[in-house]
Amino acid sequence: MTRHAYFATCAPGLEPLLHAEVRKLRLARVEQQVGGVYFEGVAEDAWRANLWLRSAIRLLQRVARFPAADERALYEGVRALDWSRWLRPDGALRVSAQCSDSVLSHSRFVEQRAKDAIVDQFRARVGSRPDVERDEPDLALHVHLWRDRCTLSLDSSGRSLHKRGWRVFQGRAPLSETLAAALVELSEWDGRAPLVDPFCGSGTLLIEAALRQEGAAVGALGAPFGFERWLGHDAAGYARVKAAALAQRERPAKRILLGLDVDPASLEGARANAAAAGLDGRIRFELGDAREFAPQRGWNAVVLTNPPYGHRVGERAEDEGESAARPGDTSIEALEDLYRSFGTQLKKHCAGYGVHLLSGERRLSSALGLAPRRKLRLVNGALPCHLLSFDIR
Ligand SMILES: C[S@@+](CC[C@H](N)C(=O)[O-])C[C@H]1O[C@@H](n2cnc3c(N)ncnc32)[C@H](O)[C@@H]1O
Repeated sequence: MTRHAYFATCAPGLEPLLHAEVRKLRLARVEQQVGGVYFEGVAEDAWRANLWLRSAIRLLQRVARFPAADERALYEGVRALDWSRWLRPDGALRVSAQCSDSVLSHSRFVEQRAKDAIVDQFRARVGSRPDVERDEPDLALHVHLWRDRCTLSLDSSGRSLHKRGWRVFQGRAPLSETLAAALVELSEWDGRAPLVDPFCGSGTLLIEAALRQEGAAVGALGAPFGFERWLGHDAAGYARVKAAALAQRERPAKRILLGLDVDPASLEGARANAAAAGLDGRIRFELGDAREFAPQRGWNAVVLTNPPYGHRVGERAEDEGESAARPGDTSIEALEDLYRSFGTQLKKHCAGYGVHLLSGERRLSSALGLAPRRKLRLVNGALPCHLLSFDIR
């Protein structure tokens, strides 16, 4: 079996966590790098990585590396590979590029020339050429140029791995599933203590927590992977590996997983999301105001949450304040009041709890009136933020 070099990408700051995840899969030559984790293995290792990794965004299979300080070197380097190994002449291709610190600095141009090199090869050999297809290509090629060195990789995931297939409801500013899974891991929740999200929105954190608790292979829930369309893919072998991964999911003993929100529509959506993830009835989603947060005594719970912080996340406006008790008031002062009251409730009612809060605004997290014992720098979408951990005494 051919051995390949793989690179699993992740959001900045999550590299150590992904490194631990990859190591758990017992893959070879695992190495933490900037932006992700490198490992080596055979096709089956890539199948398992796509099926099991929770915080990875994409798994790339490296196919070539060469110097490309100009257009010609790029074109020749791409054309030197035999593309008929992965793609049929009537297949569909997508090329994406990322350039930094290189003479070739326009990603669109690099994409175009790499695509030209591939289609020219097909045209010269068989007289026909693959089409370009953005949405559902048979082969997605990733071109990475850094300091005039070009790395060509096939996107074995074919889709962002945050697309687990359970999100039927978006909500206003949902966390990405991969970041949520990472936050669950970083919260050090043991899978047994009650887990509470008092600003649960579409339920992402609790759903990812429940999936982890059930030992679910999250990648198996989503759309087919990119490698399933490659020429020469061993469909029967993969079907066996996928079936074995799905069979490992188990129902653990009933635990308390509780989500609260002031917005009834979000709660309804969160229930729909949980049902789509095969978690019907496993998570309680209830109407509740975080300013009156008072969980049951003696729970010794873990609170893991992502309160509103009044910024845009990705394309979506994070205007959650609309659903707070003062509708429409998203001012920083109103949010400060919300954090202050939430902090007071934590101090009053949550002695013994571990609290982990993703915050994108220092002024707001200061309003909690609690000193974090740990502060991890992360990125939510494009937004820098921190995961703050508190021990409530
Ligand atoms: C950033 S979103 C949470 C997103 C969530 N993590 C997800 O992945 O969908 C913040 C949530 O806080 C809710 N919220 C705002 N004010 C609240 C309050 N006073 N009590 C409880 N929830 C509140 C909003 O309705 C919104 O759903």
